[in-house]
Amino acid sequence: MHVLVTGGAGFIGSHVVDALVARGDTVTVLDNLTERVHPTRAWPQHLTDACRRVRGDVTERDDWLAALHDAHAVVHLAAYQDYQADFSRFAHVNDVGTALLYELLVERGQPLHCVVAASSQAVYGEGAYTCPEHGRQYPPLRSPKRLARGLWDPVCFACGGPLDPQASTEDRPAPTNAYGISKLAAEAYALTLGARYEIPTVALRFSIIQGPRQSPANAYSGVLRAFVGHVQHGGRPVVFEDGRQRRDYTHVRDAVSAVLTALDRPDAVGRAFNVGSGQVTSVLDYARALLDALGSSLEPDVSGRYRVGDTRHVWSDTSRLRTLGWRPSGTLPEIIHDYLAWPGAAPNFRNWSSRALQRMESTGAVLRADSR
Ligand SMILES: NC(=O)c1ccc[n+]([C@@H]2O[C@H](COP(=O)([O-])OP(=O)(O)OC[C@H]3O[C@@H](n4cnc5c(N)ncnc54)[C@H](O)[C@@H]3O)[C@@H](O)[C@H]2O)c1
Repeated sequence: MHVLVTGGAGFIGSHVVDALVARGDTVTVLDNLTERVHPTRAWPQHLTDACRRVRGDVTERDDWLAALHDAHAVVHLAAYQDYQADFSRFAHVNDVGTALLYELLVERGQPLHCVVAASSQAVYGEGAYTCPEHGRQYPPLRSPKRLARGLWDPVCFACGGPLDPQASTEDRPAPTNAYGISKLAAEAYALTLGARYEIPTVALRFSIIQGPRQSPANAYSGVLRAFVGHVQHGGRPVVFEDGRQRRDYTHVRDAVSAVLTALDRPDAVGRAFNVGSGQVTSVLDYARALLDALGSSLEPDVSGRYRVGDTRHVWSDTSRLRTLGWRPSGTLPEIIHDYLAWPGAAPNFRNWSSRALQRMESTGAVLRADSR
């Protein structure tokens, strides 16, 4: 099978490319080597030579046409991810890019075996909770006033009491930032146009994926990259809020196996699936596990900074994808081990983590609670 992987020079994409090549598929990569991810604008060393490379943009018709050529399937991973306030760019890259793919497939009448479209856990916004008295609820965006006072947890809409966080299931997306909105819209384009024009399509809502090849230059590309960057430059890992926010960090190997499952299973078509490890960890525990792995006696820097539009607790229920036989296997220690074993995490790259934090602070994407 000839598979086109958009964003194939990136983190998840390059691992997907390796897995496809390993099983004998022919692979084309479409990637514009965006500066936020690839600061030198060069093809990364980690991208195998065993694929055809098309340098181009998913918002450009001619670039899609050059890449689509005789593809049998598309894994659409190229996206704009960040915490910056350039809201229209999320819509432009993520939504226009996805709509354009379907426009061209319909126009060309190109029959495809499958399109796998990358979505995100960000579609769940603040996630799901229960109140012991008032039941399940999906809190809206956390109030800027409460965040500024360092009151991190959402409260019950009815009684104002504490809520218990729950796993998010696929049936109730409610994004609370521009990225999440754009991913939900992209998913809607893909699944709806796929159904309308009989282009088999699957959407995968990735939890936070971690592992080697996460660009150290990209502020969005993960807590592990940021923590390692701070520690390698003599600092402490900077933890947002109070560090007690919970997540289901997921090994990139499990994201790749989800993509292969989506490509191979006809009964996946037409649906969105969560892809997460099922292992729930606090950010603080993650930072401490990393410091342990590095043999450091430092404590994380819990500074009261917070990211605007960030989520308090969120993790995904993966039972839907498990019904197709997919099982995650990566653990947190393995994620940390594999990342640290990657030469790109070596201690002499420029201090991208501090620069990314400074950039987010200077643009108001990261604020400080004034109660501290
Ligand atoms: N990494 C995660 O934790 C995570 C979580 C949820 C969802 N996702 C989704 O998974 C996909 C892959 O994420 P990733 O972490 O590998 O990202 P990444 O930033 O490492 O890779 C994205 C790649 O897409 C390319 N790209 C960006 N804009 C492009 C454009 N306009 N045209 C062509 N190429 C473009 C970049 O150059 C990069 O190589 C994305 O769709 C993302 O939204 C990732």
